[in-house]
Amino acid sequence: MANKRNLVIILALAAVLAFGVLALLANIFEKKQEARDRFFRVVESGEFETDPAVWGKNFPDQYDAWKNTTTDYGNTMFGGSGKRDKLAENPRLKELYAGYPFSIEYNDERGHGWSLVDVKEIKRLGQNKPGTCMSCKSSDNVRLWKEMGPSAFYNTNMYKLDVKHPISCLNCHDPRTMDLRVANPAFIEAMEKRGVDLNKATRQEMRSYVCAQCHVEYYFESKKNPILHFPWKHGYTLDDMERYYDEEGFYDWVHPQSGAKLIKMQHPDFELWSTGIHARSGVSCADCHMPFKRVGSQKISDHWVRSPLVNVAAACQTCHRWSEDELKSRVMAIQMRTRKLMDRSEEAIIAAIRAIKTASDAGAGDAALEKARNLHRKAQMRWDYVQSENSMGFHSPQEAARLLGEAIDYARQAEVEAIKASALGGKTPHTAKRP
Ligand code: HEC
Ligand code: HEC
Ligand code: HEC
Ligand code: HEC
Repeated sequence: MANKRNLVIILALAAVLAFGVLALLANIFEKKQEARDRFFRVVESGEFETDPAVWGKNFPDQYDAWKNTTTDYGNTMFGGSGKRDKLAENPRLKELYAGYPFSIEYNDERGHGWSLVDVKEIKRLGQNKPGTCMSCKSSDNVRLWKEMGPSAFYNTNMYKLDVKHPISCLNCHDPRTMDLRVANPAFIEAMEKRGVDLNKATRQEMRSYVCAQCHVEYYFESKKNPILHFPWKHGYTLDDMERYYDEEGFYDWVHPQSGAKLIKMQHPDFELWSTGIHARSGVSCADCHMPFKRVGSQKISDHWVRSPLVNVAAACQTCHRWSEDELKSRVMAIQMRTRKLMDRSEEAIIAAIRAIKTASDAGAGDAALEKARNLHRKAQMRWDYVQSENSMGFHSPQEAARLLGEAIDYARQAEVEAIKASALGGKTPHTAKRP
């Protein structure tokens, strides 16, 4: 009797299980079909389709969200989409960047849809700018790099390049497979030199690499031959890049007051991020700036690339159980600490610049001022790295604080050296008698 009942139970369980498996298979099949449908194409887009509207026919949700990158959603405390005038917000920058175009005009960046308008409008660039300036601004580049070759692209006047579309689909995707793909020759070259095989990059790595084509520190080979390079020979940290620049004897400009040979940092978002806890934990740029969202039954990436602070629920709460207010206030705490250290760095560097100028006016020559100028270079590079980076320290709070601490120290050392040089009455340390 008991055996019979057991048999019935076992049979019943087996039936339920079989049904479950079938249902699961049906569900998987449906999902697969859906995934395939997702890439169903209304139009065939060519290998070099640069126009996002054409891609949009096949992928309307991503296209609609991408179009939002021209929407002004306002400013956050340090970021957001407003066209902020950095020089008006912080007049110290004029002295810090004196002699360099950033002291004339310096606007905070905004959404990708604006890239072409902004690069063309900017007064700082003048009319005589190489194609290199267009490198991070347009999807047409991908076609032009292939058609013209990178060298001719860089050496053509920026305004003469045949570009029509801002940063869009072709900058990040292979149109045949829709896989993420990098196309910027400078990024590919830099990774090759680092021995990184991009063909073996994981999907998660690609979710940051596509951004690292542009959100990085870079330099032009020379004025005569403005080839774009990334200074990553020794690694991504500031110290690694400084070593490279020092070895090459590279500088962007000479500061008119201090006479120091300085580097202008660009926007090392990828480099700073790579030193932080999120990168260490495998969290990519896209995780925070293009989080998944549901559209119907599909999970798609939010192509409205923007400040995560206006999208905390999708950008952070998938991983963190803290409330929205708590998350925002943690970011704010990091950013305020960074800003305060930046204020101190700026004051210290300005004191150094003025001390060197005073010493030079008092007759101190190049040899006597060499030490102070070199310290100015070191301080400026560290402060500028954090100031030009876009997250106000958030991408790697401790590294940002370390660099600003060092910037303050180097700047004060520069000031001391300049005062010593003045006291030496303009003679070199070897020939002068100490007063
Ligand atoms: C853990 C989440 C997170 C990751 C990962 C992350 N970011 Fe950010 N990012 C932020 C936050 C938070 C801010 C500050 C936004 C603000 O101040 O409004 C920010 C700011 C920025 C900004 C300036 C935005 C603005 O509104 O001005 C840029 C550009 C940026 N990040 C690029 C990147 C890139 C490129 C990567 C990858 C190399 C990356 N981020 C990785 C969270 C993240
Ligand atoms: C082809 C170059 C390029 C690529 C690729 C690129 N960016 Fe940008 N990004 C820019 C430029 C240039 C701007 C500034 C545009 C302007 O101000 O006109 C910008 C602006 C931004 C902003 C500021 C938006 C705002 O509302 O203030 C964020 C955030 C950002 N990018 C994140 C990313 C992330 C994340 C990725 C990768 C998924 C990425 N970018 C890929 C060049 C690029
Ligand atoms: C700044 C880089 C960038 C740009 C520009 C961009 N995408 Fe994407 N796209 C991504 C990333 C990152 C993913 C996530 C891929 C992954 O996780 O494997 C993605 C995913 C997708 C997917 C797969 C489904 C999904 O949403 O996750 C489609 C389809 C897509 N993008 C279409 C487009 C179209 C159409 C455009 C232009 C209107 C565009 N993308 C522009 C970076 C970009
Ligand atoms: C994909 C998962 C993921 C996302 C998305 C994410 N984080 Fe994190 N976050 C982590 C991990 C992992 C750590 C490391 C600490 C830990 O293991 O809890 C961390 C650490 C932090 C810390 C502590 C930093 C420190 O230096 O100790 C803060 C603050 C933080 N996250 C804020 C944010 C904010 C704000 C966002 C959204 C803009 C965000 N995170 C998005 C996974 C994530």
